[in-house]
Amino acid sequence: MSGETQVGIIGAGPAGLMLSHLLHREGIASIVLERRSRDYVERRVRAGVLEQASTDLLAATGVGERMTREGLVHDGIKLRFAGEEHRIDFRRLTGQGITVYGQQEVVKDLISQRLADGGDVRFEAEATAVEGIDDDHPSIAYRRDGEPATLDCEFVAGCDGSHGVARASFPPPLAGEGQGGGPRVYERSYPFSWLGILAKTPPASNELIYAYHERGFALHSMRSPEISRLYLQVAADDTMDGWPEERIWDELRLRLAEPELRAGEIIEDGITPMRSEVIEPMQRGRLFLAGDAAHIVPATGAKGMNLALADVKVLAEALTAWYRSTSRDLLDGYSDRCLRRVWRAEQFSAWMTALLHRDPAGDPFEHKLRLSYLRYIATSTAAATTLAENYVGFDTAK
Ligand code: FAD
Ligand code: PHB
Repeated sequence: MSGETQVGIIGAGPAGLMLSHLLHREGIASIVLERRSRDYVERRVRAGVLEQASTDLLAATGVGERMTREGLVHDGIKLRFAGEEHRIDFRRLTGQGITVYGQQEVVKDLISQRLADGGDVRFEAEATAVEGIDDDHPSIAYRRDGEPATLDCEFVAGCDGSHGVARASFPPPLAGEGQGGGPRVYERSYPFSWLGILAKTPPASNELIYAYHERGFALHSMRSPEISRLYLQVAADDTMDGWPEERIWDELRLRLAEPELRAGEIIEDGITPMRSEVIEPMQRGRLFLAGDAAHIVPATGAKGMNLALADVKVLAEALTAWYRSTSRDLLDGYSDRCLRRVWRAEQFSAWMTALLHRDPAGDPFEHKLRLSYLRYIATSTAAATTLAENYVGFDTAK
């Protein structure tokens, strides 16, 4: 091994931690640098929906025990609009379901397994630069306890989310497609955000409710039989100051049209912009991006955490092939292999977002088109299957 470790990983989110875990199982050493504290990453409330492929990966690699016990398996979702409710039965349409299990629980399970296996996860260690990716000895400059340090390694995995430093080490993006050389960033921002709360109130429904309302989208989700996770479409420039608790609950009640919904103590809140982004290719030299560092999806399709886990499964296989046989084929094909699934998820997430959100300009024609398409999904097996097979995770390797 040249350097301090074989694979230097930036970021202890689902992508970085799962990669470190998968590499360990193959006898490959890694060090994870995470700028936040352990407590912070274990409490950060984010995604909640795991596709079957994600739960299979967690279970098959020995980190699914608590998820299997505490995760809530759902066989469908409810769509509500214009006073109607329609259930999309994933199990009947695709043979698969989804599991509701908080991202911070996945992160906790992975950290505890890495530490039990003697893994090196350095919290409060902020990467500041990635160097030498075009030669054989890359390194990560980082700061810990205010002191500068360097991690020399053989490969770097940038799992540091959309605002991390890994992607900043790529050469500047090119303006147009087909110009060769540098990566390209494809992006779209939406003229609205999501206000999310975690509340001490029992879920008002046993399944997720996606509601399209004239006043905007609302989502009812959950974390446990006592804790609900709820979202509202809000204006892109809204802040929490404009959303006192009473207004949040009134708006949720109205949009979700759910009589069982009871207000409860709000234990977490925040506003997240909705955006889509893909960096292509997801690799350069000895640097590989994974998860949000390489792509962002609007949360409507519940894909972000699943894509992060899927990327690192591919990356771990490619690195394993390299260390077993020094074959670079799988490493060279990493980006192409991931991007097929990424673009499917991007399309689905953009489609779900357009279908379920009110556009702020309030175009009445668009509103009628949306209602018509929602009714089409509610009454056509073909249309419902399109939603279902993408939601549970479409296998683009087929
Ligand atoms: P992250 O989880 O962002 O991890 C990156 C890590 O890198 C962080 O811990 C960060 O602190 C660290 N880091 C950043 N910069 C540095 C640095 N310079 N040095 C060291 N460390 C650094 N996805 C779903 O699949 N299903 C859902 O239901 C869903 N719902 C969502 C709801 C909301 C409100 C939000 C915001 C997101 C949702 N997502 C969902 C998306 C999902 O949370 C992300 O896609 C997921 O976190 C990606 O994991 P990751 O490991 O790539 O990145
Ligand atoms: C969540 O439970 O946090 C959640 C569920 C479905 C989504 C997004 C977020 O589409």
